[in-house]
Amino acid sequence: MPEVNVNRRRFLRQSFAFSAAAALNLPGMIASAMPVPGGEADLLMIGDWGWDANGHPENAAGQRGVAQAMQRYVADNPLRTDALLFLGDNWYGALDGGVNSPRWQAQFEDLYPAGIFNVPAYAILGNHDYQKWPESKVEAELAYASTGKSRWTMPSRWYRFEFPRKNPLITFLAVDTNLPSIDGHPAKAPSFSMEPELVTEQLAWLETELRRPKATPFLAVMGHHPLYSDGPHGDHRLLIESWDPLFRKYKVDFYLAGHDHDLQHLEFEGHPTSFFLSGGGGADLYNLKIEPQQRGPYAQKVYGFSHLSVTKKEVTLRHLDSSGRVLHAFTRTPSGKITILNS
Ligand SMILES: [Fe+2]
Repeated sequence: MPEVNVNRRRFLRQSFAFSAAAALNLPGMIASAMPVPGGEADLLMIGDWGWDANGHPENAAGQRGVAQAMQRYVADNPLRTDALLFLGDNWYGALDGGVNSPRWQAQFEDLYPAGIFNVPAYAILGNHDYQKWPESKVEAELAYASTGKSRWTMPSRWYRFEFPRKNPLITFLAVDTNLPSIDGHPAKAPSFSMEPELVTEQLAWLETELRRPKATPFLAVMGHHPLYSDGPHGDHRLLIESWDPLFRKYKVDFYLAGHDHDLQHLEFEGHPTSFFLSGGGGADLYNLKIEPQQRGPYAQKVYGFSHLSVTKKEVTLRHLDSSGRVLHAFTRTPSGKITILNS
């Protein structure tokens, strides 16, 4: 297992081809009136979105604002959305009625409407989905997908899919990061998390999937908890110990996460993986714990969503806010060259 010393990691300031404005990480510096071009597959993602506003989900203004921005974004740009990615903490608070809860219609079907997003919505589980309120929402989320009547796609706690469907360019491994711990501290393990047998089973599956010869130029893992985060939850010791060596060994290109209620993009010297966090989908925002100038290239406390666009040549990832403004964007080639975009 390679040594993982989080504190001594250094942000690759010198090795990126990015502008001074992007380096300064100034919000809004890369807003552009230019239309965003579509790739061969375009996916929009959010995390931490099904906010209950202290028992009054009808007041979840942050979630509504982001959802409306996503709708405007695809209307205003020549984009065909191929999928939505929901990065966990899908439901805060109670989901009364489980699979029959009216919140499915009000906060999923209506806010991300099939009239605009008539595509699969790949979802993974976060800690709030496991959280008992008074019951865990995990079974309801799996059951809602299994009805086959919705775009909600969660065939199991972990699964694989690829895009585009024909001649795929990117493989996604969707995983369950709810290891028995709180933010990587096993001593604080809550009563709502994966069973230890499932943790072992998933790890074996993940390694088997990663060991396969790469069938696509790009490989992304998506899980709710970040391995590294500048937000208040911080770096996740257990995931770093268990999964980071696999990401390095098998050269995972992207790790997509949520959990902290902000938007981030972190790069570490010598690490083959770009860490991308999209947790601004609707839940209340919290202050960052690490200043974005210390590790980066980007972290911001803001509501928003993210856009992953893939071509044979590169993947472009963008963070956008509730007004549809691009806050941060970068491209990554199959060889791992990263370019921060400034327009
Ligand atoms: Fe979370």
